[in-house]
Amino acid sequence: MTSPASLLAASESTASTRARVGGASVRQARLQDAVNIFELVNSLSGDGTLLRRSYAEICENVRDFHIAESEARVFLGCGALHLYGPHLAEVRSIVVKPEAKGQGAGGRLLRALLEEAEEQGVVAVCLFTRIPDFFFHFGFRVADRTTLPDKIYKDCQACPRLYACDEVAMVRGPLPKVAVLGPTRIAQHELVKLQEGHIPHPAEETASKPGSQEQKIASRQPEKPHAP
Ligand SMILES: CC(C)(COP(=O)(O)OP(=O)(O)OC[C@H]1O[C@@H](n2cnc3c(N)ncnc32)[C@H](O)[C@@H]1OP(=O)(O)O)[C@@H](O)C(=O)NCCC(=O)NCCS
Repeated sequence: MTSPASLLAASESTASTRARVGGASVRQARLQDAVNIFELVNSLSGDGTLLRRSYAEICENVRDFHIAESEARVFLGCGALHLYGPHLAEVRSIVVKPEAKGQGAGGRLLRALLEEAEEQGVVAVCLFTRIPDFFFHFGFRVADRTTLPDKIYKDCQACPRLYACDEVAMVRGPLPKVAVLGPTRIAQHELVKLQEGHIPHPAEETASKPGSQEQKIASRQPEKPHAP
């Protein structure tokens, strides 16, 4: 006969291998969530599913993140909304722990990010993904990546997969007509004006002082060349 203790142990082990998402809730991330976010995101960065994010970058941008957690406050997943401006935001680093997949947490995270974009008055949301089918469920459509220069300047230029990218660009809402990122163009008035004329090197100043060692050397007559 199975004892109550062994029944409890069996149910605990089931719970630990498959997180129960039923009552999962989604909330804005706090700094204390950064370690969980860092570990989960980077667990899927090796094969390029997600962009690698450093711990420092996650802490710095933790306010971009929402997290999903179980009723027992167990961390289940995360997703971020990066704001480029009122014309565009991007869904980044959306992921659910393997044992919590397929139970609605990913959808709840994405909806929370889309609601946030709406609250911020952002008209279009973009993302790059290998699983467009998931995002079709939420109103995204495939787009030409060149219509998203902000995303390209932010991430793609420095990406080792720049010329072998297997991700699909997607947008929800109107394609942006403007971009805020691009080749660096610094307005002339923002540049510090350099001092005009010749600025003497400290050694030149010393050399010009009368009686200085450098002046003595400079005033010395060239030695007569030795006769052969
Ligand atoms: C993508 C991911 C976040 C989805 O999370 P999830 O909790 O499993 O998703 P949900 O259970 O909320 O599913 C919501 C809907 O999307 C569908 N869906 C889930 N994953 C899907 C997939 N990979 N492809 C197509 N549809 C998918 C579900 O069937 C469900 O549809 P329904 O509402 O008609 O039932 C999760 O699978 C994951 O972490 N994947 C690895 C990381 C990744 O690829 N992230 C995307 C990077 S851009």
